[in-house]
Amino acid sequence: MLNGLLTLRGAWDRVREDPVLKFFVVAVTCYGMATLEGPLLSLKSINAIAHFTDWIVAHVHIGGIGWNGFMAFGMIYWLVPRLYGTKLHSTKLANAHFWLGTLGIILYAVPLYFAGFFQAMMWKQFTPDGFLVYPNFLDTLLEIKTAYWLRALGGSIYIVGVFIMVYNVVKTVKAGRLIANEDAEAPPLEKTAVGTESGHWHRWIERRPIQMLIASLVVVAIGGALEIIPTFLVKSNIPTISSVKPYTPLELHGRDIYVREGCYTCHSQMIRPFRSETERYGEYSKAGEFVYDHPFQWGSKRTGPDLLRVGGKYPNSWHYYHMYDPTSMSPGSLMPAYTHLFDDVLDTAITSRKIEAMITMGVPYAADFPAKANADLVAQSELITIDMKKVGIDAASDREIIALIAYLQRVGTDIKAKAPATTSAKP
Ligand code: HEC
Repeated sequence: MLNGLLTLRGAWDRVREDPVLKFFVVAVTCYGMATLEGPLLSLKSINAIAHFTDWIVAHVHIGGIGWNGFMAFGMIYWLVPRLYGTKLHSTKLANAHFWLGTLGIILYAVPLYFAGFFQAMMWKQFTPDGFLVYPNFLDTLLEIKTAYWLRALGGSIYIVGVFIMVYNVVKTVKAGRLIANEDAEAPPLEKTAVGTESGHWHRWIERRPIQMLIASLVVVAIGGALEIIPTFLVKSNIPTISSVKPYTPLELHGRDIYVREGCYTCHSQMIRPFRSETERYGEYSKAGEFVYDHPFQWGSKRTGPDLLRVGGKYPNSWHYYHMYDPTSMSPGSLMPAYTHLFDDVLDTAITSRKIEAMITMGVPYAADFPAKANADLVAQSELITIDMKKVGIDAASDREIIALIAYLQRVGTDIKAKAPATTSAKP
């Protein structure tokens, strides 16, 4: 970052006029922020506060739309006129894009930082008597709704800027002609230290994008492999808990619906060993609880509460009403309604293949279980519909919602002293 900013020393007058440099100055500043904050967030004490909150979202967008976005815009404004042997259609529009983009980033990130700090503090606040001040997750969410609106506004303004750029680029391209053979057609560029053929020994690979891509992949993969391979090879690295059992076929379907619908974008399934979390959600997560989760659903952001201990927390009917209209159970909820799950019939034709896939991943189902899986599935879904009939819900047992409820009722229950019976015949 310093290298970037100091390069502009003595050239700030050009920054005032040249939109390309403006984009770079903001990009480099955001780069500095993001890459300073990143390592800070990796510190245990800071991560304890920031993780799962909007702080992280603010942070990555300083990187995504600030650093990377503005870097890309600057490059596009520089490259396109040169590729088409002409001048940029409108410097004014590029400047407008710059200011809209900058405003967009500020409106996007600043409210989210505030939202993140608010969430972090509210989630962790205790009364002098040792109770959570905000035991209801929704209270902490409603506090930051305005920040979400400002974020949406900021993002929209940023996108408007991108459309202005697209228009500008199209106009520029139309005014010029593609220089297909640079050597023959282009006016010679000023030779800079970087542009010369000689130079450092690593120059040869820097001039070859494909080789550079492959080489960097290999280098990065070495680090990844060194970290990952030993964890695969050492069996004792897989901490198993004897009461943790594979999902039933119906729960497995429900889990896939959970993944398909993107529930993990708002919900985590990872309770950290902090008192503020165990008070709110229950027993903290153990590695051995997730051995049959392919892929795991730890999540990364809590727009809604953690769901790891939601199994058995509510009756089936609660989930039934909540998924149809979340506000009916939780007034003010931001969670979307999932009414289509009440119409869509569960695709049981693929049940056995789902189980087989899990067996391939090492989940210990009996070899003959895939063939029997649908009988188990039907029995369990009928148990759920019969249970809901008691409170006057007349649900069809072949709908996707039933599978989702079965999954939600199972999540995180296996390590509880007495897990509720969720199926007729556990594999
Ligand atoms: C846009 C974010 C969002 C998405 C996506 C989302 N939820 Fe939620 N969810 C929330 C919020 C916020 C709450 C807390 C308020 C409430 O109870 O509705 C919540 C609450 C819940 C609860 C009650 C948890 C408790 O302990 O009280 C369950 C269960 C749940 N969601 C399941 C799901 C499932 C299943 C999906 C996917 C089909 C899903 N959610 C998708 C935001 C979301």
